[in-house]
Amino acid sequence: MTDHVRTDLTDGVLTVTLARPEKKNAITQAMYAALAEATRRARDDAAVRVILFRGEGDSFSAGNDIADFIAIGGAGEGQLTDAPVFHFLKALADLDKPAVAAVRGRAVGIGLTLLLHCDMVVVAEDALLSAPFVNLALAPEAASSMLLPHVLGHQRAFEIFALGEPIDGRTALAWGLANRAAPADQVDALAADVAARLASRAPNSIRKTKVLMRDAERLWTLMQAEGEAFGSQMRSPEAMEAFMAFSQKRAPNFG
Ligand code: COA
Repeated sequence: MTDHVRTDLTDGVLTVTLARPEKKNAITQAMYAALAEATRRARDDAAVRVILFRGEGDSFSAGNDIADFIAIGGAGEGQLTDAPVFHFLKALADLDKPAVAAVRGRAVGIGLTLLLHCDMVVVAEDALLSAPFVNLALAPEAASSMLLPHVLGHQRAFEIFALGEPIDGRTALAWGLANRAAPADQVDALAADVAARLASRAPNSIRKTKVLMRDAERLWTLMQAEGEAFGSQMRSPEAMEAFMAFSQKRAPNFG
């Protein structure tokens, strides 16, 4: 149980709020477990028509909690797909109802790759989206090694992964990562409006539409393959150096 993920079901929209603003909504193991449960509920509960992800405070999410990376990396071998993050990824792959995201501020790592599983994305014009897996000596996850180049093309996706620099919300819109860009203070209302409109559509029709547009099995197979690269990197000396550098607020030295 965690207070850092809140859910609210109103008029068919299950709003899932990342609520750890003092840590820029960095996601802990307990939060992944709560996200997995909410996402499974979205699929299984007939009262849910749409799931809407948003963040409390000034950021959508700073991605995986780096202290957790240090703890898991230091713990040695273990089946990565047993970890709560994989329960969340599996639930995302299996989700057959519309997902919407409202993105303000930072969206880092899984904060960005989660958007690739959302069917409609509303970003703040000044949001900053990044996937600095290589900066942390990690590897892409959440099927982003396929989905990001699919949306952006190889070169843009490679730059996002390898240089780790953020793109802003306007660029995300121009590059096809988002459906709408708006001033930050309008993002939640705009995303709620999008979610409400999706919730009013014929539920079976919209589910079948989504299922036809995605290959859930292929996504899950890729997520597991990525998990092997990610897991072995996470336990590597170069990743430990990157995590320690972050926690010590210094630049990493990869020698
Ligand atoms: N894991 C754990 N703690 C995190 C975190 C993360 N991913 N991201 C931010 N935090 C913490 C910071 O350590 C800081 O904690 P403190 O107040 O106890 O020192 C707090 O959240 C605020 O972050 P701060 O870095 O001061 O805010 P900022 O506005 O200067 O920068 C970010 C925001 C998101 C750009 C920056 O925090 C960052 O780069 N975070 C790491 C992102 C990342 O690499 N995630 C993993 C992707 S795979």
